[in-house]
Order: sequence, then C-alpha cells, then structure tokens
Amino acid sequence: MPDLHPDATSVLMDVITQRRSMGLARLKPDAVPVEILQQMMEAANWAPSNGDTEPWRFTIFSGDGREELANAFGEAYRTDIGDGAFDQVAYDGYRARAYAAPVWIAIGMEPGKNEDGSLAESQDEEIMAVACAVQNFHLIATTYGLSGMWHSKGTSTHPAVAKALGLDSPSRLLGLFFLGYPEIQWPEGERRPLESKVRWA
Ligand SMILES: Cc1cc2nc3c(=O)[nH]c(=O)nc-3n(C[C@H](O)[C@H](O)[C@H](O)COP(=O)(O)O)c2cc1C
Repeated sequence: MPDLHPDATSVLMDVITQRRSMGLARLKPDAVPVEILQQMMEAANWAPSNGDTEPWRFTIFSGDGREELANAFGEAYRTDIGDGAFDQVAYDGYRARAYAAPVWIAIGMEPGKNEDGSLAESQDEEIMAVACAVQNFHLIATTYGLSGMWHSKGTSTHPAVAKALGLDSPSRLLGLFFLGYPEIQWPEGERRPLESKVRWA
C-alpha cells in the first residue's frame, strides 16, 4: 500500500469533480503566487509517460513575461493576413489577448528519441502523456481556488506561436492554458451518465 493520508480518496475525488474550466472573461487580473505555479509544475512532472519520455514542455508567461506571448500572437496575426492589408486595431487585439489572464502556460510536447534519432514512442502516446501532466497541474490549481482552461483553438495552437516558442516539428504546441482566480462563483460541473461510457463485460 502507498503511504497516503487516510482521507486521500475523498479529498482527491472532491478535487477531481470540482476542477473547472473557465473562459478568459471570468478570470480576475490578480497575480498568481509563483510558489503555486511551481507546485503545479511539480505535479505535472509526476505524470506517467510511455518509455519515460516525459515529453511535457511548459512555458509560463506572467506579469511582464506576457509581452513575449503578445509578440507571438502578433506574429500569428501577420501570418493570418498573409499579403493582406495590415490593420493596427486587429493586430493590437491579437496582442492584447496575452494580457487577458494573469498567467498563460504554453503546453508543449517534445517527443522522446532513441539513440539513432528515431522517435521513441508514437505521437499519440506522447500527446496522451502531456494531457496527463496538464490534468495534474489543473488539479493542483483547483486546490488553490484557481481556474482557467486548456485552450486549443486559434492562436493557442497557431504555427506562428509554436515557432515563436521553439516548438518545431516533431515537437508540437498542444495549446495554451490560461489561469487565474475566478470573478464568478465556483460553477457546478456536469457530466452525462457513466452508463453510456462504460461497459462491464
Ligand atoms: C485537450 C483540451 C482542449 C480544450 N480546448 C478548449 C478550447 O479550445 N476552447 C474551449 O472553450 N474549451 C476547451 N477545453 C475545455 C473544455 O471545454 C472543458 O474541459 C469542458 O467543457 C468540461 O468542463 P470542465 O473542464 O469545467 O469540467 C479543452 C479541454 C481539453 C481537455
């Protein structure tokens, strides 16, 4: 048996069921203590990975550090317009998104390699391991009353943002997680019944 707190099961289940995703508009601008972010990363680092590749790579943007992300979003805008006309308001809008949450965590995947340079595991397996790491840090965030969201659309997985973060193929940018204290009351979660998802043979 592992050496766990006697209430571990119920405490963990509480955290799992109360972990919530929230959009940018629901987060306060208040800063998040660095000690919490460090603990989140420590939890992430305990995720499982096939072949012990530990493929999770995170970049944390907070405070003035968000300027780097704003620059990356600006590059995404330039890529999106291609040869089209530059629109300063739209460009500023892309950049401003970086300041809409106190913390952003870039979710990167760098696959493990064999000695001959070939990939040690499949891309799917590496992505699954990173997802476990994200869930770990999201659970720790929940214990501090923090929320946010793994966002995987638009600029959050934009090739220009991936490039700015040094996540060139075969590495990948799997999304951005924005984090902060909610402005709203903690919402109830909802799930469709388990019966439709589990078959007991
Ligand atoms: C891999 C992944 C990607 C996600 N991408 C988005 C996204 O791009 N936009 C979004 O609104 N929510 C995104 N979400 C958050 C889900 O909408 C959210 O987890 C779901 O609604 C369940 O809510 P809960 O996390 O509060 O339980 C993503 C979640 C995961 C796990």
